[in-house]
Amino acid sequence: MTKPNTSSLPSFFCIACAAVVILGRTCSCLQFTYPNFNASNRDDFSFSPGSGISNNSLQITPNAGNMTHRSGRVVYAKETLKLWNSKRTALNSFRTDLMLNILPQNGTGEGMAFVLTNNPSLPSNSSGQWLGVCNNQTDGVKTNRVVAVEFDTRKSYKDDLDGNHVGIDINSIKSLRQYPLNNLSIFLSTGSDVWVSIRYHGTLQLLRVFLVQYSIRGQHLFKGDIYIDLSQYLVDDIYLVFTGSTGDATQLNQIKSWNFTTVDIDVKVRRGHWRKVLLALVTLLVFSICLFAGLFMWRRLTRRRRLAYRNLEKMIDAHGPVKFKLRELRRATANFSPTRKLGRGGFGTVYLGYVDGINLEGAVKRVSTDKQEDTNRGEKEFVAEVNTISKLSHRNLVKLIGWCHKKGELLLVYEYFPMGSLDKLLYARERTASSSSMSASTHTPELTWERRYKIIRGVGRRWTTCTTGAASGSCTGTSRPAT
Ligand SMILES: *[C@@H]1O[C@H](CO)[C@@H](O)[C@H](O)[C@H]1NC(C)=O
Ligand SMILES: *[C@@H]1O[C@H](CO)[C@@H](O)[C@H](O)[C@H]1NC(C)=O
Ligand SMILES: *[C@@H]1O[C@H](CO)[C@@H](O)[C@H](O)[C@H]1NC(C)=O
Ligand SMILES: *[C@@H]1O[C@H](CO)[C@@H](O)[C@H](O)[C@H]1NC(C)=O
Ligand SMILES: *[C@@H]1O[C@H](CO)[C@@H](O)[C@H](O)[C@H]1NC(C)=O
Ligand SMILES: *[C@@H]1O[C@H](CO)[C@@H](O)[C@H](O)[C@H]1NC(C)=O
Ligand SMILES: *[C@@H]1O[C@H](CO)[C@@H](O)[C@H](O)[C@H]1NC(C)=O
Ligand SMILES: *[C@@H]1O[C@H](CO)[C@@H](O)[C@H](O)[C@H]1NC(C)=O
Repeated sequence: MTKPNTSSLPSFFCIACAAVVILGRTCSCLQFTYPNFNASNRDDFSFSPGSGISNNSLQITPNAGNMTHRSGRVVYAKETLKLWNSKRTALNSFRTDLMLNILPQNGTGEGMAFVLTNNPSLPSNSSGQWLGVCNNQTDGVKTNRVVAVEFDTRKSYKDDLDGNHVGIDINSIKSLRQYPLNNLSIFLSTGSDVWVSIRYHGTLQLLRVFLVQYSIRGQHLFKGDIYIDLSQYLVDDIYLVFTGSTGDATQLNQIKSWNFTTVDIDVKVRRGHWRKVLLALVTLLVFSICLFAGLFMWRRLTRRRRLAYRNLEKMIDAHGPVKFKLRELRRATANFSPTRKLGRGGFGTVYLGYVDGINLEGAVKRVSTDKQEDTNRGEKEFVAEVNTISKLSHRNLVKLIGWCHKKGELLLVYEYFPMGSLDKLLYARERTASSSSMSASTHTPELTWERRYKIIRGVGRRWTTCTTGAASGSCTGTSRPAT
């Protein structure tokens, strides 16, 4: 007899198997194949008294000697079935195929069952109607931990449907559901093979039972579906067991072939999931390393500047000139626009600036910082200038109003005098002819001899102040004409 074509059957299992095959991963879960049984397979099973392997089959109940009022169990002893998948996100899915052959001896009775249980040993007094599943005392008791598919061949109590049905039993011989087989032309206890497939989908918690029997009139098929949450009745380490019993009537309860596969449906999902998690972790790691490296490099590179700046701030007296924001001074000078340029002085360019907020017109000196040595020199001069000039409030020195040191810019803000420094005043006449583009307020006052004398006296006084008043640094203030 050939195995029936299963393509017509809804086969979630095939998809699951395909997934495992595609992934090239045979899961570590329970899996075995017995095309038939012989003496060399004995050690794979544990047998209750009277049951065993004979005639290339598992004999669930005795096939010789006193066969009446017997019950028996054959337990797959090599491994147990795990209830949960490896990630414990869903119940394991499995499929088992078996070839039944029930051979009547004296009448037909009682029947057999495929059982998932945590208690593999045969209950006492479980012959007759109990099918080796439970007994009069334990029937319906939760601690049985039994989920069974029964193949009942005898009506043995009132609620028993008939002598030829499939039933789903949970902890009790009184079936949760019974499926008649007579009107499907499937007859269990006739000595002919019945191919049985029991499949459980762990995620859907769907149990499906298929029976196929061939006769001279063709293939007869039974399908039964039932939703069962196995975790409600079973705990981990589930034994796979065949049970059977006889009563007054006897039969051989035989399993000729048995295959079992577990499918960890989560295998595929988990692999994909882990790949994603790993990728995310690696990305995060690389990103953080880059970030830290970048930060480290940036701090190293700007260390000098940061230190210099800290020193600068320390060096400049807190009570001294106002510290401006670079933004303010940019706006004040129209972003150091060439049209605002008043001229070039020592170490920098001077711009005309107008600070809105404090309503101040000033000359903004932008200390040149193009080259490193320039910067150092510029910074030195800057500090000296800020310190010295702010302390000196000599009327002949241009008064320092504020300063700014940001983003590599060194800026000094002085009081603005339209004439600029002395040289400009001296040569103002020649200049005004050409530089009309200068500030609008540029007009040339008459440089009288009286005024020249005042300036000379002022310069003299300035020098006295510088040499006596300034403690350190060079006296580099810009001369302004005395008023
Ligand atoms: C017993 O069955 C196994 C397969 O289940 C087979 O490999 C072996 O040859 C058989 N032995 C005998 C003695 O038939
Ligand atoms: C052994 O099995 C064959 C067919 O599988 C059957 O014809 C025969 O009657 C069986 N013998 C016994 C003692 O059950
Ligand atoms: C057969 O075995 C059953 C159960 O062990 C027992 O009740 C019965 O008396 C036995 N019958 C014979 C004839 O030995
Ligand atoms: C079990 O698998 C073997 C090998 O694939 C096959 O020959 C046999 O028919 C299967 N048994 C059942 C009951 O499907
Ligand atoms: C067959 O069963 C009947 C009762 O159902 C019994 O009287 C008879 O002795 C049995 N025969 C054999 C050979 O076991
Ligand atoms: C089994 O049944 C017999 C009588 O039918 C009884 O004497 C015995 O105590 C029972 N054993 C158990 C374990 O219930
Ligand atoms: C089960 O036990 C009860 C008593 O607890 C008894 O009345 C009943 O007959 C027993 N049934 C069977 C089938 O042994
Ligand atoms: C067989 O009988 C059962 C109830 O007795 C019924 O639900 C089912 O549809 C029947 N099947 C066929 C194929 O007639």
